[in-house]
Amino acid sequence: MKPFRIAVFASGTGSNFQAIADAVQAGKLDVRIELLVCDRPKALVVERAERAGVPVFAFRPKEYASREQYEAEILQRLREREIDLVVMAGYMRLITPVLVEPLYGRMINIHPSLLPSFPGLHAVRQALEHGVKVTGVTVHYVDGGMDTGPIIAQRAVAVEPEDTEETLSAKIHTVEHELLPSVIRWIREGRVRLEGKTTTYVKDGMGQ
Ligand code: GRF
Repeated sequence: MKPFRIAVFASGTGSNFQAIADAVQAGKLDVRIELLVCDRPKALVVERAERAGVPVFAFRPKEYASREQYEAEILQRLREREIDLVVMAGYMRLITPVLVEPLYGRMINIHPSLLPSFPGLHAVRQALEHGVKVTGVTVHYVDGGMDTGPIIAQRAVAVEPEDTEETLSAKIHTVEHELLPSVIRWIREGRVRLEGKTTTYVKDGMGQ
């Protein structure tokens, strides 16, 4: 089977990047991480990528005239590396049609809530402030909106009365680290079918 090439976009700690890299390293995920795209050159995720031998495109948004301009550069790099799937894992920037249009159906995002509840920033804090008893994790395709694209998979996480933003984030991260590599594997195996605004999971894959 031809290698399946992914690019990861991240801005911060990169524990999800690490979970993907570890799954690849352990032979549990048959993909190649071809590129890390990061908008904060000093972020910990850059160090993680370097340690894993993954090429990095780290840029400073302020050095570009517009968001479209740096996204055009990102798109060019994705094309050069023939990326099959873009994985947004804590990439803290809105994206424009420059990336969304050519990559629709080939770009996923992980979000720390059960969408459509609590999109946007500070999803864990939003859930706590709202007083929900269950929150969780969503992996979805990226469309032009903020955390609005077709949902691929969700996992629930119980909110306990004593939870703080820190403890609940830690529980959510643990679930993310299991779910995100799994979803990448399903996509790699052709098991996720995107149909309009929804997706279905195909048990036997597409016979590729
Ligand atoms: C994760 O909670 C993810 O859901 C959200 O940003 C966080 C990134 O964490 N989009 P990390 O950098 O992977 O540790």
